[in-house]
Amino acid sequence: MRSTIVPAPSALQTVDRSASHPAIRWIGANVFLMATTSPSTLPMQANDPCWCGSGRKYKRCHRGSEGRVVAGTVSPMRPVPEHIGRPPYALSGRSVRWDEPRIKSPDIIERMRGACGMAADILRLAGEAVRPGMTTDEIDIYVHDLTVERDAYPSPLNYNGYPKSVCTSVNEVICHGIPDSRVLVEGDIVNLDVTCYFGGVHGDCNATFGVGEIDAESARLIRVSDECMWMGIEAVVPGRPISDVGRAIENHAKAHRLGVVRAFVGHGIGEQFHSDIQVLHYYSPASTMVMRPGMTFTIEPMITLGSWQHKLWPDNWTAVTADGTRTAQFEHTLLVTETGYDALTAGPGAVSPSAPWSR
Ligand code: MF3
Ligand code: CO
Ligand code: CO
Repeated sequence: MRSTIVPAPSALQTVDRSASHPAIRWIGANVFLMATTSPSTLPMQANDPCWCGSGRKYKRCHRGSEGRVVAGTVSPMRPVPEHIGRPPYALSGRSVRWDEPRIKSPDIIERMRGACGMAADILRLAGEAVRPGMTTDEIDIYVHDLTVERDAYPSPLNYNGYPKSVCTSVNEVICHGIPDSRVLVEGDIVNLDVTCYFGGVHGDCNATFGVGEIDAESARLIRVSDECMWMGIEAVVPGRPISDVGRAIENHAKAHRLGVVRAFVGHGIGEQFHSDIQVLHYYSPASTMVMRPGMTFTIEPMITLGSWQHKLWPDNWTAVTADGTRTAQFEHTLLVTETGYDALTAGPGAVSPSAPWSR
């Protein structure tokens, strides 16, 4: 079971709520949408009895979850055609890590270009499809079909048991949101994280999209998150420690008074979805690994309007901000070159093709 909008929607609750609060009765059929998108405008006082009829004070009952994303229904896993090459975890749902060279061979790098180009292409198409009224499950179906059409395997599917082909993270969901029956509404923001397995290697990228018209604060969050990713990417220089990446990201986020999530990090990538390189998105003197030509890893900062701390839903996947404020993310897969970086999921046709200040 996974995400939909609060209050857990049922016609009954909608009716109950307007009936006990004559001040908002005039909103009529729209009360549900009003309540979920602008909780702060509700004429509900902290000490009022909660609208849900629990008999508890509003502040001790539903106030904390007002306007939050909540679980919807997850549809059954989608099949992948027999002829498509699968990663080792596809059948069992268990990923066993092995020692993979950090510096990739030219052959692996060429194959990664293929998988990365495909992921970038699918991410763009999926982002173009985002509109109010569609469910995140519909996005999953679209991404799944675009992937298998290209004879690739959608890497998230059954990775450590993850049940879908893409991650869809809405509003305060930091990452790993599972597509479900939740309907995207005007003003939401949604991150789509697309990873393809093709030619025996993975390509991983994500971007955050507005659903219809979004407020200025959300637009700023998205813009600065993209900038943070590119600040990190431009710090990729052979011979330098990987801590340069986190420092660049953290400095930019701080300058805009935004938070940097610490619990999720960029990762080595190649024949495995996640290999042993860790790319922190904040500065740590302990990140001493020196970047070398041929290394491949992701940079994928998660930036918040409020707290950088997170909570995990009971599904053990969905990570949300501890304070419920919105969060955005961008991701590219990088190759360290002799002189700097090659962003394998960027370039023409990508959602974020290059640093915003050089576009
Ligand atoms: N694509 C995500 C990343 O950037 C990982 C998703 S794992 C999944 O690392 F199982 F949730 F799909
Ligand atoms: Co990703
Ligand atoms: Co990643």
